[in-house]
Amino acid sequence: MAKEYALEVKKIEKVTTPYRKMVTDTFPVRKSIEVIKRLRKYEPRSMSGQPLALWDHASGFNVFDKYGNKWLDWSSGVLVANIGHSNPEIKKAMIKQINHGLLHNYCFPSEARANLTEKLSKMLPKPLKKIFLLTTGSEAVEVCLKLARTYGQKIADKKKIAIISFNAAFHGRTMGSQMAGGSPALKEWIVNLDKDMHNVPFPNCYRCPLGKPNYQGCDTECFNKFVKNITKKLGGKPADRAAGIIMESFQGGGATFAPKGFMKLLRKFCTANKILLICDEVQAGFGRSGKMFSFQHYNIVPDLTTFGKGITSSMPLSAVAGRPDVMDIYEPNTMTSTHTGNPVCVASAMANLDYLVKHKVVQNAAKVGAILKAELHKIKEKHTDIIGEVQGEGLVYGMHIVKEGSRNPDGDLAHLISAKCVEKGLMVFSPVGLNGGTLKIAPPLIITAAAILDGVKALEEAITEAKREMLGEGDNL
Ligand SMILES: Cc1ncc(COP(=O)(O)O)c(C=O)c1O
Repeated sequence: MAKEYALEVKKIEKVTTPYRKMVTDTFPVRKSIEVIKRLRKYEPRSMSGQPLALWDHASGFNVFDKYGNKWLDWSSGVLVANIGHSNPEIKKAMIKQINHGLLHNYCFPSEARANLTEKLSKMLPKPLKKIFLLTTGSEAVEVCLKLARTYGQKIADKKKIAIISFNAAFHGRTMGSQMAGGSPALKEWIVNLDKDMHNVPFPNCYRCPLGKPNYQGCDTECFNKFVKNITKKLGGKPADRAAGIIMESFQGGGATFAPKGFMKLLRKFCTANKILLICDEVQAGFGRSGKMFSFQHYNIVPDLTTFGKGITSSMPLSAVAGRPDVMDIYEPNTMTSTHTGNPVCVASAMANLDYLVKHKVVQNAAKVGAILKAELHKIKEKHTDIIGEVQGEGLVYGMHIVKEGSRNPDGDLAHLISAKCVEKGLMVFSPVGLNGGTLKIAPPLIITAAAILDGVKALEEAITEAKREMLGEGDNL
């Protein structure tokens, strides 16, 4: 479970590099404490899980407080600012729309909505040609669950409604999306879990469901086990019972990709059994993994896909893209949303997508991401006792911090490393994944190689110091 970052000021060393500047004597900054206390007073406790840097403004791949500190951002907020923070093109487009004088239009026709749905449809491969604009990632997931269940009933009967998803998955915090998620602790509050929603093991080669130590070309064996698992859970033939299989294109908790062969088999299986394959691209979409869409790593196309976060690099907007026959199931006014295609959010999305393409941002993510990947693996080799694995592609990585010499996550050590990163001017969010043991690394996709190397230096220092502090190791690390 996530921990709070202690609200005690601590002396820190000054840092000055071209990308990071820590000029205050302490962290958290003394003057910021009053604001943080107000947040703790007026917000629910659940909101107090992030490092205590008081964000004042952010630009490109830097975040600033108002006390002179400047962080190199390896969070992108929470994998949102793909083309960087406060991109001037996005600001210009939003201001233009605000001055134009349309801030809201519900589902009444608007040119803005026509422009964005057309743009997305043209960016996506067949059959993902119809687009429904929404507000949050969770909402997009809910729509997919609704569409899949409705579709199952339409082509068969009321038995074809089951939704399959994966252990350790994250799909959001609303009731349906939380049930699709694969962390039992996060859904205890629901009590009456939907008996037609099932989690099965994710083909994670670091924590292999077949108990193998690593990937051994075992895609078929792994997939057969998956089919066996779901058949048992469904209590009948998958073709008769399952409406949809939803998975993150990479599991966000660890930046964990499924093996390619497994995904090819999954695609074939879904087609053969008339089960909708839903790829949740809320965090994976728009270049994050070095391809425009992360399902492209597998050379497959899902039937439905969700987007959010990086679709605007800023404003709250999400989307479902899907097969027209599925997307058109609902009659007019029976699948809508109050803020669908809000014109200001649409302006930010349009500018974001134009920038992404024009400035070859996805290509940059692949190129610079390869450097980051190599550096993270070098760090892992130096600290094999506490770094179990580094997973990820492009500009998203999960560094799995473990109890010495095991694969058991060490949430305390990961937490301390994250705190030290932030004290050194490297912005990361609090660790995620199994027992909070995974340091997630996700810089804006416009980051440069030099900035990456600067961040790697800070990360390595943080790891070395945290290890020394917690495990009492000497200076010869
Ligand atoms: C894969 C995935 N799906 C869905 C969501 C939920 O998105 P939101 O927080 O916008 O509701 C998230 C958010 O982190 C996510 O990573």
